Amino acid sequence: MMMADKEESKSCRILVIGATGYVGKYMVKASICLGYPTFVYVRPLSSTSSSSKQEAHGGFQSMGVTIFQRFLPSEFGHEVDRGTALPPFQRLLDDKKKIRRATEEAGISYTYVAANTLAAYFIDLLLHPHDQLREEVIVYGNGEAKVVLNFEEDVCIYTIKASVDPRTVNKVIILRPPGNIISQLDLIALWENKSQRKLKKVQIPEEEIVKHSEVLPHPDNIRISIVHNIFIKGEQVRFELGEDDLEASHLYPDHQYMSVDRLLDVCVVDAPIPKLTVF
Ligand SMILES: NC(=O)c1ccc[n+]([C@@H]2O[C@H](COP(=O)([O-])OP(=O)(O)OC[C@H]3O[C@@H](n4cnc5c(N)ncnc54)[C@H](OP(=O)(O)O)[C@@H]3O)[C@@H](O)[C@H]2O)c1
Repeated sequence: MMMADKEESKSCRILVIGATGYVGKYMVKASICLGYPTFVYVRPLSSTSSSSKQEAHGGFQSMGVTIFQRFLPSEFGHEVDRGTALPPFQRLLDDKKKIRRATEEAGISYTYVAANTLAAYFIDLLLHPHDQLREEVIVYGNGEAKVVLNFEEDVCIYTIKASVDPRTVNKVIILRPPGNIISQLDLIALWENKSQRKLKKVQIPEEEIVKHSEVLPHPDNIRISIVHNIFIKGEQVRFELGEDDLEASHLYPDHQYMSVDRLLDVCVVDAPIPKLTVF
């Protein structure tokens, strides 16, 4: 979750809540890279805190409280007001919607960021690029649905830019850069080409995935429902962007985002290893 206290100028201060988390660490880096005085909210360390959290604490220079004028809820996924999902994922989307509605009812200025799929996170899940010995790759459904894979650093750069942009007050920004729209099958073929390996494709039909979503325990039922929604339903590109929609790469053409193609080049030499999100 991230808040900005003024619009437009670089005198804005950025407060990141959840800064010790997976997205939060990228967000702090993006904010600093873009030159904003950056504040983080972190909960105190305890004897059970993970080493990554302790490292994150060690790395943060500032902690503070500020006055907020813009609220950016920690969504970083679908455009929650458009589309539907299997029940376990839908419940998560409904929670995010409740936060949107409460924000609007309270009259708080906001920007909602529909980041779509975080690329490093899902490339790891789909292709296991750090595991050179792995010979199989799972194809969810027929593998033809298009998804939008946005690199985490770009998601956070766009988010920080939008947080101080007067054009995005009380708007949704959708991250759908043309170079990041790809099907599972095309992604696998691209990876085979770059890694110079032929992978055995193990297909899981949609019915099996729906069944898993009904019987798996929490939070695995959410994870499989997300996979169904993104990779089988292709929900992220099922709606057309209209004239009133704000698409990030159009809004900020100066930012050279990392295309999926280039990210796979990076993965060949140094694949990021994300951690699983907690639900
Ligand atoms: N689109 C995608 O592909 C994708 C992929 C991954 C995540 N996401 C989305 O990104 C968002 C962030 O996920 P994440 O993976 O970064 O989560 P995460 O790693 O679990 O991090 C959550 C952060 O929030 C903090 N936090 C949780 N509850 C809090 C509370 N009650 N008070 C204060 N701080 C609290 C945690 O602090 P502590 O360290 O103190 O616990 C941690 O810093 C979620 O909305 C998730 O759905 C999207």
